[in-house]
Amino acid sequence: MTKKHIETALVNAGRSKRYTQGSVNSVIQRASSLVFDSVAAKKAATAGRASGELFYGRRGTLTHFSLQEAMCELEGGAGCALFPCGAAAVANTILAFVEQGDHVLVTNTAYEPTQDFCTKILAKLGVTTSWFDPLAGASIADHIQPNTKVVFLESPGSITMEVHDVPAIVAAVRRVAPEAIIMIDNTWAAGVLFKALDFGIDISIQAGTKYLIGHSDGMVGTAVANVRCWPQLRENAYLMGQMLDADTAYMTSRGLRTLAVRLRQHHESSLKIAEWLATHPQVARVNHPALPGSKGHEFWKRDFLGSSGLFSFILNKRLNEAEFAAYLDNFDYFSMAYSWGGYESLILANQPEEIAAIRPDAQVDFEGTLVRVHIGLENVEDLIADLEAGFGRIA
Ligand SMILES: Cc1ncc(COP(=O)(O)O)c(C=O)c1O
Repeated sequence: MTKKHIETALVNAGRSKRYTQGSVNSVIQRASSLVFDSVAAKKAATAGRASGELFYGRRGTLTHFSLQEAMCELEGGAGCALFPCGAAAVANTILAFVEQGDHVLVTNTAYEPTQDFCTKILAKLGVTTSWFDPLAGASIADHIQPNTKVVFLESPGSITMEVHDVPAIVAAVRRVAPEAIIMIDNTWAAGVLFKALDFGIDISIQAGTKYLIGHSDGMVGTAVANVRCWPQLRENAYLMGQMLDADTAYMTSRGLRTLAVRLRQHHESSLKIAEWLATHPQVARVNHPALPGSKGHEFWKRDFLGSSGLFSFILNKRLNEAEFAAYLDNFDYFSMAYSWGGYESLILANQPEEIAAIRPDAQVDFEGTLVRVHIGLENVEDLIADLEAGFGRIA
């Protein structure tokens, strides 16, 4: 049989009879205790506890196994650890591979709590962190230290949206530190628009809170690992008590079924709006990976299969306090919220010094107010009219 297309894989992954038991979707199996019929059954469950046998709630139930199997198929991994949110996935995945005296090398455009985990928690454990420029490419090798254990990528970068040259980064890291574990926060690409493991990355992490769940009503973290990393990630996550409730695992699987059509619309609408913004007289720059001229656009074009709905733009002026509030408080369709990846449009804004404060060892190269939008599934013309009215309030 020919290889399945991604739309088909998203509809079918994790839906074997063992998990659906006669219905369309996987069953929701809520359990702490899983009951053994005999001493022999208990022995078999114990032997197979890490490979899909029902053993104890914290190792997962059929609902979790269905989601884990789906994620492995979609991202091409040997195993998938599940976490109660994206931040837990990031923290526990790094933690699984470091010990006192190690060094981690992190993109300086990483999501702020990822940076804080390194500087506040890892530092306490005697693990040091340094930072690299997201556009470093092969020159990342200059930042590798003899004790570098983890290289952590995020592409596009948080808020400013720079896309890494992943093949150049992976080749350089493998050349100077073959044992280092390369991980990526792959949330923006929902794990399917950028096939991280196919590019030689060891672990693809997602805040499934965003596109996997897709409806802004649940939190989940996933980490899909290759065969080299899976046993260590699995056992460390287990010992750290990391698990997801069965209901949220079910909601995550349900989100997968519509992910391809949602992403297609997020791509089309966000790019249309980015192109409109790029010609707007009140906009200095648009940071959208799929827009020519955006930082790392050439790598997006080469390596990604599409775009999602989150991007940012820089206004050609810095808003004063009154303008800032007038602009943000009065949109009809753009709500203010920190998360993203749901069906609805969102907006946030930051002054340049706020972005500078979360860019270790780097300066920002803009002076206007930065606006981050998530383009949802509403009609594009309605969204453009809403944004245009916003420009009117700060003209
Ligand atoms: C890129 C990225 N990674 C991780 C997270 C953390 O995810 P969660 O909110 O599920 O902990 C977020 C949340 O905004 C994010 O944007």
